[in-house]
Amino acid sequence: MELILLTGVVLVSIHICQGYDLSHNKVKAEIRKHVLKDYDRIVGPVKYGDTQYLEVKFRLSITNLVEVNTKEQNLKIDAWVWQKWYDEFLAWNSTNFKKIGYTVFSPKEVWVPDIALINNADRTERLAGGPTKFVTNINAWRKGSMTWLSPATFSSTCVQNVKTWPMDVQNCILTFGSCTYPKKNLVIVPITETYTK
Ligand SMILES: *[C@@H]1O[C@H](CO)[C@@H](O)[C@H](O)[C@H]1NC(C)=O
Repeated sequence: MELILLTGVVLVSIHICQGYDLSHNKVKAEIRKHVLKDYDRIVGPVKYGDTQYLEVKFRLSITNLVEVNTKEQNLKIDAWVWQKWYDEFLAWNSTNFKKIGYTVFSPKEVWVPDIALINNADRTERLAGGPTKFVTNINAWRKGSMTWLSPATFSSTCVQNVKTWPMDVQNCILTFGSCTYPKKNLVIVPITETYTK
């Protein structure tokens, strides 16, 4: 998936953090215990079928253009990354849990997509994605729907030509992809709507 960023253009932003519902925490803890028992966070979220692929919905919203570095040929941005997928192993029957249909997981305890910035220019953080980059919790719904919204700062390579400076326009392409899944097995679908739980 590629996202073209024109420097100097104002980009869409979202300013919503998770509206965490504090009620029924005891039941939510029971749900967590129930679904995480025997859960394997490495194998991936599809239970059956060998032709199935996994769909991860993805949106990057840039909130701040931090730096355009012509000498280093890179670009630094602040952004929110919003990812959605289904994990069939993490569904539960809400009838057995006081009709509670929502809980929360840490990215360290469940499978999460390893979608990362491929043209990453940050040498202190070689993997610009996955649970090492995105540290916020994942909202989970009873049918296995996962929503992960995380803030992150990205440095990407961006080849710039400044011959026509100061009238120049630069195109920076941020390429995101999975490091372990081939394209046909993990399909990245852009999210077009604004953030909702
Ligand atoms: C959920 O659990 C209830 C009570 O045990 C049961 O009657 C119902 O069939 C279950 N629903 C599903 C979708 O498994």
